[in-house]
Formats: sequence, structure tokens, C-alpha cells
Amino acid sequence: MGDIFNQTDITLTFVFIFTLIAIGLYRRHLRSKDQPPGPWGLPFVGYLPFLGKNPPRKCTCLAKTYGDIFRIRLGSWPTIVLNSSAAIREALVEQSETFSDRPDFFSCKVVNNMRSLGFGSYTPRWRLHSKIASTVLREFASPNKPTTEKVIMMEAEKLTEYFLENTHTHFDPHEEIFFAIGSVIYQICCGMDKDCRNDKGYINLIKNTKMMQEFAGAGNPIDVMPWLRYVIPSKATRFVEILQTLIVSTDTIMNEHLQTFDEKYLRDVADGLIFAEKKYCRNPKKNQGITKSDIFSTLQDFLGAGFDTSSSTLEWIILSLGHYQHIQELVQQEIDSVIGTRSVSLDDMGKLPFTEATILETQRVSPVVPIGIPHATSKDTVLRNYRIKRGTVVLCNFYGTTRDSKVWRNPEVFTPERFLDDQNFINSSIENKLLTFGAGRRRCPGDFIAKMELFLFVVNIFQKCKIKLISEANFEGVFGLTYSPRSYTIKVFHR
Ligand code: HEM
Repeated sequence: MGDIFNQTDITLTFVFIFTLIAIGLYRRHLRSKDQPPGPWGLPFVGYLPFLGKNPPRKCTCLAKTYGDIFRIRLGSWPTIVLNSSAAIREALVEQSETFSDRPDFFSCKVVNNMRSLGFGSYTPRWRLHSKIASTVLREFASPNKPTTEKVIMMEAEKLTEYFLENTHTHFDPHEEIFFAIGSVIYQICCGMDKDCRNDKGYINLIKNTKMMQEFAGAGNPIDVMPWLRYVIPSKATRFVEILQTLIVSTDTIMNEHLQTFDEKYLRDVADGLIFAEKKYCRNPKKNQGITKSDIFSTLQDFLGAGFDTSSSTLEWIILSLGHYQHIQELVQQEIDSVIGTRSVSLDDMGKLPFTEATILETQRVSPVVPIGIPHATSKDTVLRNYRIKRGTVVLCNFYGTTRDSKVWRNPEVFTPERFLDDQNFINSSIENKLLTFGAGRRRCPGDFIAKMELFLFVVNIFQKCKIKLISEANFEGVFGLTYSPRSYTIKVFHR
């Protein structure tokens, strides 16, 4: 009798446990029906260990299984990854008020305590900050300002001269390109008479940028597992130290400008920011809580974001044209027939469609911002019938959008012609499919500067130089916040 009772007991216990598991699984199934699908991760670390060295590529592979919106967990952070231009636009443009926040990551907090332009939370204060920053940048770097063209041309010519002085040897152009492009944004921000090559703080900064880029890139372990900074404190400390050099360098520039500031004669972006501070910070009705330090920190954002992106793009263009000789020849034929031997100018933009298509195709094949700066949702929302909770991290896989075979035929093949229409003009609807500069409220405010730089540098260089790639062509770049080519060597010939 006792045995039977025990057996019934055991059976009931099993049935009870089984029912509980079944209810749990059913509830999870119901819940997951309105959640994006996605792969399982591990406790504590989530999917992070499986993202590998090239997260955008891994995400592109995952999208083939789970679709263009999928869910992963990065450490303790629920995350969704958007993998097509359509999904990115639906979130960042159609629901811009919800998808423009930044996650509360360690790196975002360290950069001006979530009050910076690039890493700051999406608040009314940030919106004012963004408006001020864009207005000042447009005012001092507009294509209509003769100094903008002059500064870019001066640096493009210096770089071309360097190339032509080294025709007797093979060399890696990385450093010269980096300084030439760095100098453009430096002069736009800090004054035409300045040379960034003489500013030790700035040099220090750009030399350390790579490390900073790696730190701030999507999926940085310390960002998504904050407890790690107590386990490996040196990494976090290094990031803070580098940031400090940037702050000291920009503070020095702002202080120098304050001493010589004359509101009737505004010289550059730094002066523009001082003027904006006077206009907004002293007016409680207008300022939305923005402070002098918020406005002045904009210089850090411009100097930080404005050179590695454009210089990596130029490096990819030289690598690509050094390898695809037939495309380089077509670019040169176009330059010869439209520009001849005179100097190129910004008025020529739009007159060299094949060259411009080549720049666009390089940006497609080698996107320098492959997964953007992480976004976050500022409230609960629904995206394509999926329920997305407030505070979810949102990664935009821009790299994935450039490999989407539904949008690009043979996406792996370098084909500038895909951007041209029947009349041989740039096809703007195809150009718009490229999200090189992001989308929505957080779209890059410096896109127009990058476009001018790339056009003038590329035309100036290939008008005067024939370039051959000497090292083996390697289109596998190094992934960080930006995606840059591995070191390569070229040989330059006079044209
Ligand atoms: C080829 C060159 C460039 C590329 C590909 C590029 C691309 C991008 C992308 C994809 C973003 C992120 C958007 C997002 O969070 O969704 C961004 C943000 C940003 N870019 Fe650029 N950029 C370039 C050049 C520049 C330049 C020259 C400046 C100079 C001022 C600049 C300033 C910024 C700033 C301040 C942000 C942060 C905006 C925000 O958080 O609201 N960028 N850029």
C-alpha cells in the first residue's frame, strides 16, 4: 500500500513539474511570438562571445537565418539588430522620436556624462545641442565659404605632392592621408593658420584614436558587462586617459579662442561655439538646460568624428583603385576630359559622374562605419509587429545593408556603374539606398564636409598620379567603431 502511495506521489510530482515546464514554455512561446527571433546566448555574457572579430559580418550571416530584424543579448543588454535599409529607416526615420537615444553604456557615460553630441541621451537639451552644432558647422564649413575649399585643396595638394616626391619607392600612405584629412577638420574647427601637425595634444589624440575607436565600437565587453571594468581595470582606465588628452587639447583651443574672441569677426567653428554659448546659455527661456561645457564639448565631437571616417574612406579608395587598374583608368579619362590640367574645384561636383560613382561604390563595398554608434529606444514601441521594450539597444548593421542581394546585384563585386542612370548621371534613388551617413535624428552632421573632401582629394590625386597596389589586395579591414583597411603599400607614377 505504502509503495503504491509512493509511486502515485512520484508520478504526481512528475506531472506537476512537467505541467509547470509546459506552461513556462508556452508562455515563453506566446511572448516570443511578439519578440524578434534570434539565437540563444550564454548566461551573463549573452551572445557577445559569438560575435567574433567582425560583428557586422556575423550579424549579416545571422540575418539570413532570423530575418532583417533579430534579437540578441549583449551581456546584460537586450539588443535588436537591424539589417536592411528598410528596417533601419522604419526605426530611425519613421519612429525617430523613439529610436534616437543612446544606451547607458560605460563609454557613453565617460564621454561628458551622456551629455555629448555623439554619445548623449536623446532629450530636448540634446535636440537643441544638435541644432546648434549643425548650424555652426554649416556656417563655417559651407561649400560657399571660400576658406572651406581653400583648406581642403591645400591639404589635397600637399598629399599629392608627397605621393609624387616618393615615386622612387613603395610606401604605406596611411599616416600622410590621416594627417591631411585630420588637418582639414582641424583648420575648419580651430583656424586656418593652425597646423594640427604642431599640436602635440591633437597628435597624441589621433595616434590613440584607433584604441578609442575599438573601445567605443559596438559590442565592447566593458560597455555591455560593466562589472568587467573591476576585473580588467587597465582597459577602462586607458580609455579614460585618452579621452582626457582630447579634453585637454580641446579646452586649450577653446581658451585660446576665448582670449581673442571678437563677435564681429567670427573665424572658425570654435568661435561659432563661443557665440552660440553667449546666445543660448544666457537665455533661460531658450537653453533647455544646455551648459557652456556642453556647447564647448562639441569641438571634441567634431575633431573626434571628423577625420578617421573620411581618412579611412580615402584609404579604401586608394586601395581599390590601386587594385582595379581598369577602373582607375576610367576615372582618369573622365578627369582628363572634364578638368584637363586645371585645378579641380567644388563647382565640378556633379560633372564627374563616374568618379563620384567610384567614391560611392567604395563606400558601399567598404563601409567605414559598419555598425554605427549604438542607439537605444526611449520608450516601449512596436516595430513590424514586434514589441520592443524601452532601453533596448539598437544596432544598425550598415555593413549588412551593403551586402543585401535584394537591393544590390552581385554585392561583392566592385561596380561603380551601378550608381549611374541611362544618361550617365548619378542615379539619386540608388544613391539613397546607401546609408553611409546613417539616418534619422542621429544622421551624421558632417556628411557634406566628407563629400567635399573625398571629391577634391580623389580628383586631385588621380589627375596627377597613377597608383599601383604593390602589396596583395586585402579587402578584409580592421573592425572598430570605424572599419579601416589593413596596412598596404603602393607605388606612385607621375601622369
Ligand atoms: C566619410 C566620412 C563620414 C562617415 C561615413 C560618417 C558616418 C557617420 C555615421 C554612420 C554616424 C552615426 C549615426 C548614428 O548614430 O546613427 C555619424 C555620426 C556623427 N558624425 Fe559622421 N561620418 C563621416 C564624417 C564626419 C565628419 C567630417 C564629421 C565632422 C564634423 C562628422 C561628425 C559626426 C558627429 C558629430 C556624429 C554624431 C551625431 C549624433 O550622435 O547625433 N562625421 N557619422
